[in-house]
Amino acid sequence: MKRPLIAVLNGPNLNMLGLRQPEIYGHATLDDVEQVCIQAAERLDVAIDFRQTNGEGELVSWVQECRGRASGIVINPAAYGHTSIALLDALHAVDLPIIEVHISNIHRREPFRHHTYVSQVASGVICGLGIRGYAHALQAMADIIEDEG
Ligand code: DQA
Repeated sequence: MKRPLIAVLNGPNLNMLGLRQPEIYGHATLDDVEQVCIQAAERLDVAIDFRQTNGEGELVSWVQECRGRASGIVINPAAYGHTSIALLDALHAVDLPIIEVHISNIHRREPFRHHTYVSQVASGVICGLGIRGYAHALQAMADIIEDEG
């Protein structure tokens, strides 16, 4: 049987992980995040398409491309989660299960990080668990896809 495909989409500035505010995000790089996802995917027997962009429009286009192609989306929208109605609309339009991930605990940070538009469409939200949050998100997404069977 063909393995389900889960898109793992990352928003702006996540390419700076490892350099960027390590006291908040830790020392792991985006390559380390991808390795965590690859290992989780092997264990769960799913395929992943791991990407990062700094562009809001590109992120919206990638979400749109998932329709009919992927079985679910794991997304760290980074700052666009707090600002982008375009991203929310795209996530609604794909009609797929969505899990939102943040490396840091956004609820312990500045008030403007406490709300995300993505949460309105997400089946679940994982934040504050560091880059391991991506592995938990993939596990949860694999369970959702299996339940939908
Ligand atoms: C983040 C949290 C966001 O508030 C921030 O804008 C990011 C990263 C996280 O993974 O903790 O860029 O999504």
